[in-house]
Amino acid sequence: MVLTLTRDRLKSLAFWWLIFLLPLLPLAWLVDRALALDLGADPAQAIVQFTGIWTLRLLFITLAVTPLRRLFRWSWLQRYRRMMGLYTLFYAVLHLLAFATFIVGWRTDLLLRELSERPYIVVGSLALLLLIPLGVTSTRNWQRRLGPRWAKLHRLVYPIALLAMLHFIWQIRSSFQEQLIYGLILAWLLGYRLWKRLHKRKTARRQVA
Ligand code: HEM
Repeated sequence: MVLTLTRDRLKSLAFWWLIFLLPLLPLAWLVDRALALDLGADPAQAIVQFTGIWTLRLLFITLAVTPLRRLFRWSWLQRYRRMMGLYTLFYAVLHLLAFATFIVGWRTDLLLRELSERPYIVVGSLALLLLIPLGVTSTRNWQRRLGPRWAKLHRLVYPIALLAMLHFIWQIRSSFQEQLIYGLILAWLLGYRLWKRLHKRKTARRQVA
């Protein structure tokens, strides 16, 4: 009995570490390519784009936890939602640092010029600013302290996702295939929640009548 318990605990711990390490693989790949000087003709842009797309992917993975958990009854997924949310913030900060270092070189005049010439950067910055309070309050302690306000605050993830998508769409140059795919995924992630909410309201109304 004790042996089985220990084995189960070890398995669950190994799985936790596996999920914890997976989102670090893109970063490891990026560092490896950078050290091999193999990031294409414009390494600065490649780093900014790579960290940007991974921020968006991790945001979508975080948003996918609830629908996947409900659809496939994967209750174990819930345990990893916070971790994925924090990884989203981590990659967003890397994205910002890459932009500040390689594109504007920490110069305020260049930053102001970029902000006025490329409004999608303002939209991305807003998304990142809104992500910060979610990261800070993601702990159990904050959840307890804020009570029902915690869930309300964390609904900010929906405008964040829309802002992030707008930031991405605004950058369309020729082909929009990638943005279309990400847009459809986001439409499903948000549409599923909306449909569930409407369905719940309808059922509650029917029960009252
Ligand atoms: C939650 C926040 C953010 C998300 C999800 C995000 C996501 C993205 C995505 C998906 C791309 C396109 C990557 C590609 O083309 O493959 C991108 C590019 C970019 N982002 Fe962000 N971003 C965020 C915040 C920011 C911030 C705060 C800044 C700067 C202050 C910024 C500046 C840029 C720049 C300069 C590009 C590259 C545009 C180019 O190709 O020239 N982003 N971002």
